[in-house]
Amino acid sequence: MTISQLLAQRVEAALAAAGAVGAPAVIQASSKPEFGDFQANGVMGAAKAAKTNPRELAAKVVAALDLAGIADKVEIAGPGFINIHLAPAFLAQRLEAARNDEALGINKPAPQKVMVEYSSPNLAKEMHVGHLRSTIIGDAIARVLSFAGHDVQRCNHVGDWGTQFGMLVAYLVETRQSGDADLELADLENFYRKSKVRFDEDAAFADTARNYVVKLQGGDPEVLALWKQFVEVSMHHCQAVYDKLGVGLDLAAVRGESAYNDDLPVVVSDLKAAGLLEESQGAQVVFLPEFKNPEGEPQAMIIQKKDGGYLYATTDLAAIRYRHRTLDLKRVVYVVDARQSLHFQQLFTLSRKAGFAPADMALEHVAFGTMMGEDGKPFKTRSGDTVKLVELLDEAVERAYALVSSKNPDLAEDTRRSIAQAVGIGAVKYADLSKNRTSDYIFNWDTMLAFEGNTAPYLQYSYTRVASVFRKVGDYNAAAEIVITEPAEKQLALQLAQFDEIIASVSDTCQPHQLCGYLFNLAQQFSRFYEACPILSSEGAVRDSRLAIAALTARTMKAGLSLLGIAVLEEM
Ligand code: ARG
Repeated sequence: MTISQLLAQRVEAALAAAGAVGAPAVIQASSKPEFGDFQANGVMGAAKAAKTNPRELAAKVVAALDLAGIADKVEIAGPGFINIHLAPAFLAQRLEAARNDEALGINKPAPQKVMVEYSSPNLAKEMHVGHLRSTIIGDAIARVLSFAGHDVQRCNHVGDWGTQFGMLVAYLVETRQSGDADLELADLENFYRKSKVRFDEDAAFADTARNYVVKLQGGDPEVLALWKQFVEVSMHHCQAVYDKLGVGLDLAAVRGESAYNDDLPVVVSDLKAAGLLEESQGAQVVFLPEFKNPEGEPQAMIIQKKDGGYLYATTDLAAIRYRHRTLDLKRVVYVVDARQSLHFQQLFTLSRKAGFAPADMALEHVAFGTMMGEDGKPFKTRSGDTVKLVELLDEAVERAYALVSSKNPDLAEDTRRSIAQAVGIGAVKYADLSKNRTSDYIFNWDTMLAFEGNTAPYLQYSYTRVASVFRKVGDYNAAAEIVITEPAEKQLALQLAQFDEIIASVSDTCQPHQLCGYLFNLAQQFSRFYEACPILSSEGAVRDSRLAIAALTARTMKAGLSLLGIAVLEEM
């Protein structure tokens, strides 16, 4: 149980004893140490419901409250807040439990079968910054959910199907004939652009392209083989980005849109059987009264076009159906751009109605905002092109290398290179993860690479500071008891003891910025502790205890950063 849960349980028992049966405790971490470590703010609500005086009810609750061995002071403040000061010995016990546990003492909930669907680029083109956000955020969420004990499947729902592929295959055949296909494929964005020009300019080419689409859908082995070659090249481009980023995606995680091709007619017949499908202007559609169009009428969701073609949404319906029937997942998390919100709302609503997703299978659109340039417009190159992700990541590493070299010119070249790798990639990831994901954010090299503030370099550097203690320590008793006496020690312990709360919360909300905020606070608390409580120059049991606290801090920082996909260094 987390400290908040434990306190909630005790305060709720006291509320019940004071006559407010079933009233929630409303536990919050206090904003300042003067207000205790935690506050129970439920009395006001309970008093209002029972039409009694909140201060009087608070007094009754405190009288009935049993926090023996947990808190050493409980006070009533303001209109009826209950401020709880935790006992240092209680915190010490929590740290002992974390220290002796590989998972740092977190609570493992009942494991769930969860899918995190992320990255999911369209293979017709080069990956762009929107996919960078999905890839970074999705990977952090997958890591946190696995750490929390869930059975996590990572899925890369790549866009590898549809009419564009007819055009691309036609262009592939053409460039093959002229002999420079490999060269052309090295730049997918260009490849796409040129094939589109051919498609728009040359009617014969366009006919061939359309003919390929038909053959592709009909399963023609020759055209399928060509399509496969194109998809492989494109996947290879993506994999280069994944490898540079160090995210846990590989070919095994790929299940693209093409995988559902055979299920699409089944989706249509299932919807028909469920009485949901109607014909409208030759197309097969579902009307969803939950969503209104601008005229105030139920919104139509097209399932199959007049010409027999299927849509993005049809594939997503097939995927949900598969994720329930075949994979038996209990939760599916879609890490996709916020601009697709309406699509997901409609998709989820229809999947429930059609029985593709039962009520006990959670479907969540984990939306994120747009990555902006300095000019406040969506991030592009100076000439207005989409930014190649591989180049962006290389630039991050180069910039970090220059920074590290100017800060620490005496380090060996190799060392500076590996620091630059960790810092550069870490900075790009952290800049993204530390923002509330639903808002847009401005991509800025200088802020993300700063050694001060809520940044990856600051946290990585803080970790090396803790690690440096252990390089100088010499002999000590690594199993010594933790004893908390000083205020700075208590604040650090309090922060350490809330790691489990953060993991539980991020697992729930899929908001990695909470973990970033936690780690930033932890680094700051450590820094205060380090100044107020000398470690190496103290002696005996005090020294051993402080070393134990420092060791737990290092482990927690490292674990936390690695859940964000960020590497730590022992020295930098
Ligand atoms: N391929 C899509 C795109 O690039 C994202 C796919 C998101 N996932 C999904 N199940 N629809 O916009």
